[in-house]
Amino acid sequence: SKRIGILTSGGDCAGLNATIRAVALRAHHGHGWQTVGIHRGTLGLLSRPVAAEPLDPGRLDAALARQGGTFLGSTNRGNPFAFPMEDGSLADRSAEMVEGLRGLQLDGLIGVGGDGSLAILRRLLEPIDLPFIGVPKTIDNDVHRTERAVGYTTAVAIATEAVDRLHPTGASHDRIMVLEVMGRDAGHIAMAAAIAGGADVVLIPEVPWRLSSVVDHIAKLRRTARTSALVVVAEAAGHAEVGTRVPEKSADQSIGERLAHRLTVATGAESRATVLGHVQRGAMPTAEDRLLASALGVHAVDLLAEGKADRMVGWWNRTVIDVPLDKVVGRSRTLDVDGTMIRTARALGICLGDA
Ligand code: F6P
Repeated sequence: SKRIGILTSGGDCAGLNATIRAVALRAHHGHGWQTVGIHRGTLGLLSRPVAAEPLDPGRLDAALARQGGTFLGSTNRGNPFAFPMEDGSLADRSAEMVEGLRGLQLDGLIGVGGDGSLAILRRLLEPIDLPFIGVPKTIDNDVHRTERAVGYTTAVAIATEAVDRLHPTGASHDRIMVLEVMGRDAGHIAMAAAIAGGADVVLIPEVPWRLSSVVDHIAKLRRTARTSALVVVAEAAGHAEVGTRVPEKSADQSIGERLAHRLTVATGAESRATVLGHVQRGAMPTAEDRLLASALGVHAVDLLAEGKADRMVGWWNRTVIDVPLDKVVGRSRTLDVDGTMIRTARALGICLGDA
């Protein structure tokens, strides 16, 4: 019987455990295969013996699918080709990792990661003949050729709840409440939470904006409707501000905090910023994320069973699909400026700060 490996790589998100569980259950029940869980992403491949364990299906109960994070562990610093050494230098440790993989005697490998991790894993496997299937996960939802990546809907649910929870303070104290959300270079989380939570303003990296447009919109709101305002800002929205040099992301002030301060100066209204941060990553996954994780995990195993390799599983038009990995990696899928989300936001009267 065959042995397949699974590892999770890059930032954690909700739904990783559900993915691992689906893979191991499908491998066991569907094909009679053993699944080996590799610890801490590619870092586990550097340990000797390699940090890995067979995943006993008896351990993979429903409770696991509900847990946030990844019980296998993950890494953001495992780039095999530029591995940060203790002396501050970068070293190519890919050969060691490949040797570690060889030692596991696997018949296939499933990597759960964002576009960066999938690209790295693909390159790592070039020298060996080990069929590889990628499963997209990231709260940012910026992986190509899939409408959803595992972790995104949970992050949106958390960000929406944050908007819901900020409305009352804004209303009670006549304040402008600014919520900064994650999303890396994309505005998916910001736009979804702004629409779902009923924000007044949303600023995203995909749409050029000006502070003056936001100030005008809030002034109009305050004249005609109410004294509070709710602004959602994506962490990378600073890059889309027109006519302003973007200060580099500084440890002491985030874009949300800077924006709140500038809005106070420009409007005279009291403003407060909330930077949601990693709260968006760590939670019990939504039912939708668990469903997605399960469907993608099962399909990834089945592709290996069909002898397929170098593909990523994805979700498109309410069904699982798979696409060649080289069509996916190396680019990021941002929000479609002509798409439904942005059209819906505008139709609801949400200000995008149009420059
Ligand atoms: O890619 C997921 C993500 O949470 C981004 O939204 C965010 O920019 C980044 O990771 C944060 O990374 P770290 O956990 O290394 O601070």
